[in-house]
Amino acid sequence: MNKNRQIKYLSPDALYEQIKQFTSGMIVTKGAFEVIVEKCTLEDVEWNHMDQLHRLSIHNTYEKGIRIATGHDFAVSLTQWKNWPFFITVTDVYVAKGLFYQSLTLAGVVFVHSIISLEQINDTVKLKDEWFIASHKLFKLLHKPLNKKLYKLNARLQQEDEQIRQGRFELRKQGYHFKTDCPDYHNSNLLGANTIYPVLEADAHFSVEGLTEKPMLVEAANLKFIASKNNEDTYFIWPATCPHEGGPLIKGTFCKAKAICPWHGLHFKAIELSEAYPFGSRYGFAYELVGKKVYIKQSLPPERNITVVEQVDFISA
Ligand code: FES
Ligand SMILES: [Fe+2]
Repeated sequence: MNKNRQIKYLSPDALYEQIKQFTSGMIVTKGAFEVIVEKCTLEDVEWNHMDQLHRLSIHNTYEKGIRIATGHDFAVSLTQWKNWPFFITVTDVYVAKGLFYQSLTLAGVVFVHSIISLEQINDTVKLKDEWFIASHKLFKLLHKPLNKKLYKLNARLQQEDEQIRQGRFELRKQGYHFKTDCPDYHNSNLLGANTIYPVLEADAHFSVEGLTEKPMLVEAANLKFIASKNNEDTYFIWPATCPHEGGPLIKGTFCKAKAICPWHGLHFKAIELSEAYPFGSRYGFAYELVGKKVYIKQSLPPERNITVVEQVDFISA
């Protein structure tokens, strides 16, 4: 988080007290969920929390979400609870390093405020989500089922997100970095090539013998790539680690020269090599087909490894 950024906010305790006294007849119920997330960094949990696009691919919870606006420290979204005919505005705030607020109102009668706090402990992150459900006592009946719903939702979402957080943790051990290493709501939602690959060792190459139409992992020096071959002896090649944010492309879906990543559903076009067209360069790597071998070099220094992938409608100010 940018240290120069300043934000004023009510501490969780002060907030609780103020909500209780907000109007006469107010009742407030507290709830909490806590989990130790194994093998991850606090920054990756923050990034994952702020990244909206993975929700469609990894969770089945927010199909109807619209992100109205994001700044570095906030996001405002419109969503819907299942197909119920009312709308929910959700306000997310990146309050401080390891601390997020989320506020929403259900049909104008129930206010839900969540405080998400993160703490790095060795290679794990302690994630705590504490919430207040507040309403006039007339709607007290809604508190218990809502509390239960929030707990179950949290447990499911955290489990579904595990693959992303642990995937990034493994990549970091291999020397990968990301342009979202200091995540905020703005950069976490930029659909560019944010993966910074380790430096590729000299003489990196792999053999095309044995390639089939089914994409497979191949090793070239210290990095992995994905390769396949069509009937006309054209070879399709992608980096095995997704250029966007490090997803395992091999677990995605492939259609000829197109790969769809399982983490955010972005599409990546393969480099195509053949005897007639033996050179190609994409996503920061330059390839050359020589006989039955493909030689690979980094085409840009890793820190300048920028290639814009498919963009969605998103306006940045
Ligand atoms: S990591 Fe985002 S699309 Fe692959
Ligand atoms: Fe998630």
